[in-house]
Amino acid sequence: MKLLVTGGAGFIGSAVARLAVKRGYEVVNLDALTYAACLDNVSSVADNPLYHFENADIRDREALNRIFAIHRPDAVMHLAAESHVDRSIDNPSNFIETNVNGTFNLLEAARHYWQDRSRPEDFRFHHVSTDEVYGSLEMEGKFTENTPYSPNSPYSATKAASDHLVRAWGATYDLPVLITNCSNNYGPYHFPEKLIPVAIIKALAGEPIPVYGTGQNVRDWLFVEDHADALLTVLRKGETGRTYNIGGNNEVRNIDIVHSICALLDERRPKATSYSSQIAFVADRPGHDARYAIDCERIGSELGWRPSVTLEQGLARTVDWYLDNEIWWRALQDRRGVGARLGLQT
Ligand SMILES: NC(=O)c1ccc[n+]([C@@H]2O[C@H](COP(=O)([O-])OP(=O)(O)OC[C@H]3O[C@@H](n4cnc5c(N)ncnc54)[C@H](O)[C@@H]3O)[C@@H](O)[C@H]2O)c1
Repeated sequence: MKLLVTGGAGFIGSAVARLAVKRGYEVVNLDALTYAACLDNVSSVADNPLYHFENADIRDREALNRIFAIHRPDAVMHLAAESHVDRSIDNPSNFIETNVNGTFNLLEAARHYWQDRSRPEDFRFHHVSTDEVYGSLEMEGKFTENTPYSPNSPYSATKAASDHLVRAWGATYDLPVLITNCSNNYGPYHFPEKLIPVAIIKALAGEPIPVYGTGQNVRDWLFVEDHADALLTVLRKGETGRTYNIGGNNEVRNIDIVHSICALLDERRPKATSYSSQIAFVADRPGHDARYAIDCERIGSELGWRPSVTLEQGLARTVDWYLDNEIWWRALQDRRGVGARLGLQT
């Protein structure tokens, strides 16, 4: 199978590209190489004959038409997006352009390509989305595939809009679409502006480890390689027109995950005082969702998918990876906005 992966130089897309090539898929990685991209993320597959790279922007419809015509993919897995909530608060227009208009372009390019080939039934357009489209939970309950959308940030609103477009292209044009909504990912190659890599890097630098508000916000964490495996499972076995929630059953408060990271660093790079003494509470993010939790019963019972690592195992692997790959994350720290506090505008 030839898979067109958009956003394959990013955090999750690169995990998909690496896993798909390992499993024998031919992969075309389409990425505009924004600030969030890093081709080192796919260096392990770059020389594999199954792997191809196209430097292209999903806002560029002509480029998309050309790439469909040249590569003739059997399926699209769409991950390209602006993904950082804080950046969406400061500059929402990028998010509208890529997440909404870009997804529209990709849908139209895929639809015309699929129609011109007499609508093959086994074609798939798999849209990768987030649990943030469902909004914020109180302390009880979980998001199911039937939870009404209620996005609170410009990021989640644009992801919600893109989900609706994909669903409509399935209902109106019969394009064989799949949508997945996943909880927070963590793991190797996580860009150093998100909570877990920021905590590791600030701790190692001896700097304050910023925790928004009082750190009570709860997230449901999933190891990125398990997400990649879930995505390939849905692509292969999912029913078209259907949505699948993906989660790790790992609900943890932000303050607790930061303490866990500090404890792992205390074991691996001990110093006179625990890294947790560096934790510093900072101004909260406007509109900060209180709690996300995923009910992933459907993907488990219908497709037989389960996460393979516990949060403890995944966090330990992640901390070890950052300790072993300082060259990777140091190079990204020079990029615009990295390390600065973003998203405080109201
Ligand atoms: N990170 C998470 O915890 C999480 C959870 C659930 C869903 N998701 C979704 O998964 C997808 C990937 O997330 P991520 O964390 O890997 O993001 P990321 O920011 O690490 O990577 C995004 C990639 O998309 C590329 N890109 C951005 N704009 C583009 C454009 N206009 N044209 C082509 N390429 C473009 C970037 O260059 C980058 O390589 C996103 O759609 C996101 O909404 C993320």
